[in-house]
Amino acid sequence: MTIRPILIHPDPRLKKRCDPVTEVTDELRAAADDMLETMYDAPGIGLAGPQVGLMSRILVMDCVKDPEASPRPMVLLNPEVTWSSAATNVYEEGCLSIPEQYAEVTRPAEVKVRWMDLEGAAREEHFTGLWATCVQHEIDHLNGKLFIDYLTPLKRQLITRRMTKLKRERARL
Ligand code: NI
Repeated sequence: MTIRPILIHPDPRLKKRCDPVTEVTDELRAAADDMLETMYDAPGIGLAGPQVGLMSRILVMDCVKDPEASPRPMVLLNPEVTWSSAATNVYEEGCLSIPEQYAEVTRPAEVKVRWMDLEGAAREEHFTGLWATCVQHEIDHLNGKLFIDYLTPLKRQLITRRMTKLKRERARL
């Protein structure tokens, strides 16, 4: 397994709609392993394909936060929200592509998501709490949408300027 570099906003690849996965190849399985490794290393609770420059509808997540509990690494291919609750939840979200920036985002509190697993089997699950927020945030990535797109233009521009500066500083190192 390899830790892959995470793209930092602004990057055109983070604004693109990703292509559906049509076949589970060895290459895709290796990418899923790498993405989980990259996510745990960051550390983060979710990571989507475009964040490592993979323009396919793949995301990984593990929202088990208790270090004593067993991890639950999940890989979702072609995930789709099939139902969302009318009730909403507000979470302070962050993103590995927008390091150290956090903002409150309102989303449906519960969602049902259908996806294909690495065996090519159809799966569906009802997500609540942090899992629900995380899976919606990651599916957004597959549609070229970032959590800052839910903020006011002013806040979004402020964060984008900070990230541009961060990238400039990192490039100088
Ligand atoms: Ni993100």
